[in-house]
Amino acid sequence: MTQNIKRIGILTSGGDAPGMNAALRAVVLSAEAAGVEVIGFRHGFNGIYQQDYIRLEKADVLHIIQLGGTILKSARCKQLQQPDGAAQAADILHQLSIDALIVIGGDGSFRGCQAISAFYRGQIVGIPGTIDNDVDGTDFTIGFTTALDTALDAIDKIRDTADAFERTFLVEVMGRHTGYLALAAGIAGGAEQIICPEYGDKVDLDDLLQDISQLKRDFGAGSYIIVMAETMYPAGAQALAAEITARSGTECRACVLGHLQRGGSPVGSDRILATKLGAFAIEQLLEGNAHMMMAGEQAGQAVLYPLVLTGDKKKRADPYLLQWQQRMLQQSEPQS
Ligand code: F6P
Repeated sequence: MTQNIKRIGILTSGGDAPGMNAALRAVVLSAEAAGVEVIGFRHGFNGIYQQDYIRLEKADVLHIIQLGGTILKSARCKQLQQPDGAAQAADILHQLSIDALIVIGGDGSFRGCQAISAFYRGQIVGIPGTIDNDVDGTDFTIGFTTALDTALDAIDKIRDTADAFERTFLVEVMGRHTGYLALAAGIAGGAEQIICPEYGDKVDLDDLLQDISQLKRDFGAGSYIIVMAETMYPAGAQALAAEITARSGTECRACVLGHLQRGGSPVGSDRILATKLGAFAIEQLLEGNAHMMMAGEQAGQAVLYPLVLTGDKKKRADPYLLQWQQRMLQQSEPQS
């Protein structure tokens, strides 16, 4: 078993997520304990093409568990999408005698793994790291909970100024194509309204204006916070806020949280998840079970899940909370 794997490569790819360093640390510590050498490729898959790598030993990862970002740097990689990109990457991995490759990233990075696996003789294992939480096969991705707390901290602060001015605020959170972050931040922040793909693919401005004015009729002047997932209003949150101000007679301001949601020290649960998945990935790799699998967590248990299924978008944002939020909103609408 273990004797087949002497040298593994690891990289972090796509949007960085708090906890990627904690996962790297767990991988390196577990590998070193098993006598396996770890090579860290820098700047995502680009590090393979450019042969930009460093040897990672215990001393390199000792005090990185609390750091946001990724010590290996991250990137999206155009070269892997070229017609012979995957074959080239596999060739380089063979030349470097890399017996297995571990990729920490989201479903886009895992598609890159699938492409390389067609040419690569070694094993490939994924670890889910993205603030979007949009990876099938794991209840949570590394970084999601930290990003949620960051967004929540911002929403709580916005509530203070929104209350003081009795304003409407539109808070845009990240989450390309999915509303995990918008729903979670909206619920936890007590948002009056949440706009995310799970409710429909675009903003219905007339409905939105009606909801705002009804709530103001019911509760008098006050703050009204709308948490919106990015991409829901193609012209952008500022344009939507201007539209709401113009048409509702109430002042609306936009606050785009953007990349600050990706930064910061990972919260405890992200450090723990990252440690568990990093350790589990190595353990299963050495057992020979993990080729083209992702190390995820379901109902508290570490599980292996086929990498090829991680982008199927079958995972759903909490349907109970989605419905509850909608019911509360409808209750304040005029009954016909
Ligand atoms: O996938 C993570 C993510 O942060 C998304 O939420 C967001 O849409 C995207 O990355 C932003 O990417 P970039 O950093 O390339 O602008």
